[in-house]
Amino acid sequence: MTVVVGIVPAGGSGERLGADRPKAFVVLAGKPLLAWTLEALAPVCDRVVAAVPAGHEQGEDRVPGGPSRSASVRNALAAAPEADVFVVHDAARPLVTRELVERCVGALGGVDGAIAAARVSDTVKEAGADGRVTRTLDRSRLWAIQTPQAFVADALRRALDVDERTLALASDDASLVEAAGGSVRVVEAPRENLKVTRPADLRLAEALLRC
Ligand code: CTP
Ligand code: MG
Repeated sequence: MTVVVGIVPAGGSGERLGADRPKAFVVLAGKPLLAWTLEALAPVCDRVVAAVPAGHEQGEDRVPGGPSRSASVRNALAAAPEADVFVVHDAARPLVTRELVERCVGALGGVDGAIAAARVSDTVKEAGADGRVTRTLDRSRLWAIQTPQAFVADALRRALDVDERTLALASDDASLVEAAGGSVRVVEAPRENLKVTRPADLRLAEALLRC
């Protein structure tokens, strides 16, 4: 039996959202953001561990968040030595579905990581510090990366075994797995699996839930 453990980085303060509480506990359509994520992960996982801000550790399977997102992920991993597979999902993406979590876990065969990603619909250019465009990238090969991100547990443990500075510079877990030589594939996901960063994102998420 493969033991699948969900990991939820929920330890951020939500500075850009500017609410009266940490972002994971802000209520969206009647439920805290963290609850939306836990409900999508629970049916797919044997156990779900959340890394939460100081003062919110009460409750089962909650560990203290770290100084960066990836440090929070590492704290949560350490609490689940029994895991064969980890599926990491940010509390900041409440519109995730059980189906997307299942597809990421199901795509793990033959790779170390399988990560949710949306096709890019904007044209993407690279520009120098002076704003001058240096090149236009081939959009057909570009993906905007989201969570959930599923990993072979040992590959993620190894990838996160780096110093705090390297952890702080990583914007997702897959990049650390790639840096450690691991193989990662994308799993096509809807753009609606958006990240709540600013107040307008919360209003958009609410509107999408009403659809
Ligand atoms: N996160 C975490 N530990 C941290 C920082 C972030 O677990 N030290 C989590 C957040 O709770 C969130 C996810 O990582 O679920 C993505 O981070 P982000 O959207 O940047 O959330 P915050 O860091 O809370 O927001 P902000 O950067 O605006 O303060
Ligand atoms: Mg942040």
